[in-house]
Amino acid sequence: SSSPPPPSSSSSPPPASHFIGKKEDIVKAGRVTKMVNGCRDILVLHHQGQLHAMDTRCYHSGGALQYGDIEEFNGRLCIVCPWHKYKITLAEGEGLYQAVDDPTAKPLRTHWRSKGVKQRIHKLTEVNGNVYATLNDSSEAIESDVYQTERYRTDLLKT
Ligand code: FES
Repeated sequence: SSSPPPPSSSSSPPPASHFIGKKEDIVKAGRVTKMVNGCRDILVLHHQGQLHAMDTRCYHSGGALQYGDIEEFNGRLCIVCPWHKYKITLAEGEGLYQAVDDPTAKPLRTHWRSKGVKQRIHKLTEVNGNVYATLNDSSEAIESDVYQTERYRTDLLKT
């Protein structure tokens, strides 16, 4: 029965990060939604041993991603929006779609393509069993930003 190591200097959360919850609680829940910094609704989810964070509302039309299934497409893990089944990569927030190679070919052959980053992904850090989110504050507009405005936030609280 040895005592735990003393906290090191690296055991503090990154500056400007926000406490989400204890990792064990997030793992148990699988998914947690949280308003961060009074301005951003984010979804934190645990899947296959990894934590991911993104804007809660789908870039397409504001669908509640916390109710989406996670599936792999073309080797990439995606959350599938429960509203219209858009597929969003967990790691980058890219929108994936199936493109038809040649519309005249029979049978039709498709492959997965990316529409680019559509959903804002946020960074998570784990310190001493606690999980913190650092908002992705890149100034480049990302489509999911639209659903982080006051209007949609009010709707979110009602659902
Ligand atoms: Fe997500 Fe339409 S709102 S797919």
